[in-house]
Order: sequence, then structure tokens, then C-alpha cells
Amino acid sequence: MGKFNYIDLIATLGIEDAHPGGFDLTKEMVKFLPIKSNSSVLEVGCGSGKTAQYLYEKYKCSIDTIDINDRMLINAKKRFNKKKIPINLFQASAEKLPFQENVYDFIISESVTSFTNVDKSLSEYARVLKEGGYLLAIEMTTEKPLTVREQKDIQDVYGISKTRTVKEWENSLVRAGFSEYKIIRGETIVNTSTKPMSSLPFDKLPPDGIELLHKFQKLILRYKDVLGYRVFLCRKQRY
Ligand SMILES: C[S@@+](CC[C@H](N)C(=O)[O-])C[C@H]1O[C@@H](n2cnc3c(N)ncnc32)[C@H](O)[C@@H]1O
Repeated sequence: MGKFNYIDLIATLGIEDAHPGGFDLTKEMVKFLPIKSNSSVLEVGCGSGKTAQYLYEKYKCSIDTIDINDRMLINAKKRFNKKKIPINLFQASAEKLPFQENVYDFIISESVTSFTNVDKSLSEYARVLKEGGYLLAIEMTTEKPLTVREQKDIQDVYGISKTRTVKEWENSLVRAGFSEYKIIRGETIVNTSTKPMSSLPFDKLPPDGIELLHKFQKLILRYKDVLGYRVFLCRKQRY
């Protein structure tokens, strides 16, 4: 197993909605999508599976989920089995989706694409979406271009190779074929966890996990006005 990273940290602590705005934002943003019971939905980077569970319970639609991280897959599988909900779970990368083209009406990705090669993942989303299909992406942004030192501070904690400004996200979306998009929400990050900190199982963390947690807390404070997020609602072109 590799170095204990940010994704291992949130999976070990059992943080269920590990994206800016948390589950409240998910519920609000999903209202923008015209999901019906006969819709096919893909959640990329499903983490604990909480959003997928919510979507199934609300719409009874067909849902596939993928994640790359072993710990996250175990957590999601436990959830789907416990609730007896028929959601398909695959271990795969957003950068190489194991699906045919033009199969999904909706893709949801909450704070995932930033952790991947963004251009590769966005073009995979465009490939597997049906024409006219929707992508809802909650993504981390930097509110200004960063210095090399600042990028490195953020990279050391999140493990992502490059944080992006809104303009950089927009350029990537257009390059991937999502020229129809709008930003439906966005602000700076204050606290991404909705679980009270005291309820988290810190005793499960290895020493390098505790060190990473401390670095994370410092980073969030230091960059509270610089790190933000946007919710992009995008549509694949109809020909
Ligand atoms: C910050 S967490 C968000 C999890 C979940 N979407 C949520 O909001 O709670 C990022 C998720 O993306 C997954 N991830 C990272 N890189 C990935 C990749 N290349 N392909 C698929 N999933 C990936 C991680 O394993 C993790 O579950």
C-alpha cells in the first residue's frame, strides 16, 4: 500500500460527504437535474456512497458508481448492502471509464475530478454521456493564480498536481466538449465536513495520518480565502 494520502484520511475517518458544501449542497444542486425513474446516472468518485444512496431513494433510477480507492469502495459497498439498494459499484478511474459511449443521462462528480488528470476525465465524462446529457460537478478552485510555493502547500495535503482557477476549469470544460455550462454556485471553503469533529474516529489513524490531518487543518486556515469551489452544470451537445 502506498503513502497514506488525503483520500485515505477521509475514508479512514468515515467522512461521508467529503466535498465543499457537504450533503446540504448535494441536495440543493441535484434539484437542477431533471432526473426521472427511467434515467441512467453515473456517480464518479462516489466515496462513501451517500449521494448515490440519496439519488436512488429519491428517484428510484438506475445508478452506476465508480471509485478508485480501496477503502472508499469498502465503505460504499457496506452502505449499499446494508440498505439493500441496487447500485452498481465498480473500481475504476475517472480517466478511463469502463463504459460504452453515450449511455448516461447524468454524471455527478463531487470533488473528484480535481484529484485526476482533469482533461482526461472530462473527456471521458463527455464520451459516456448521451447527447444532451448533464454533468454536475462540484470542484475545488483557487480564487487567484497561485505561486509555486502555494501550489506545493496545497499539493502536499490534497495530493493533487495542480489546483485550478475558475477560468482554467472553464477552458478544460470547453476543450472536453462542454461548451454549454453554467456556474450555479460557488464560494470559498470554510468547513467541508458536516460531522462534528469530536465524533470522528481519530484513534484509527496511523501516525502519518495524524500528521496529514494537522497539515490539513493548518492549510484550510491559511488558505481560507484562496481555496474555493464552484458547481458546474454542463450539458453535452446535441447534434
Ligand atoms: C474528496 S473525495 C469525494 C468523495 C465523494 N464524492 C464525496 O463527495 O463524499 C474524492 C473521491 O474521488 C476518488 N478518486 C480520486 N481519484 C480518482 C480517480 N482517478 N477515479 C475515480 N475516483 C477517484 C477518491 O477515491 C474519493 O472517493
